[in-house]
Amino acid sequence: MDENTKKQLIQEAIEARRNAYVPYSTYPVGAALLCKSGKVYTGANIENAAFPVTVCAERVAIFKAVSEGNMDLDAIAVVTKNGGSPCGSCRQVMAEFNPELIVIIADEEGEVKQETTLKEILPGFFGPASLAK
Ligand code: THU
Repeated sequence: MDENTKKQLIQEAIEARRNAYVPYSTYPVGAALLCKSGKVYTGANIENAAFPVTVCAERVAIFKAVSEGNMDLDAIAVVTKNGGSPCGSCRQVMAEFNPELIVIIADEEGEVKQETTLKEILPGFFGPASLAK
């Protein structure tokens, strides 16, 4: 993907991260998801006093897109303080929609720590094809 689009996506993830609700972990995460239509959906992690109910930033962004009729995921930028990688649950949700999804991992300064694809970070995943008869 071109450098400008990448930078813009990271910037949107940095901004989305400001809305993270993280009273328990104090680890805000921001995500910005680019769909093939060109539309961008952002997300931030939202924690809960009942800890397992917490939803990650990546899933918030993906669920926003899909719930508005956009399943054509193209790239996602994820921003954390230290360039943390998407969790297994988020990877599984990404795999449902696009194994070729570009995943850009950056720190809070916007420095890219890793640029990869979903299938690289979740090899052998269980996906829609796994249920084929
Ligand atoms: N978190 C995310 O938002 N995305 C990930 O992929 C990893 C973890 C959130 C969940 C929780 O609010 C905090 O980071 C610490 O685990």
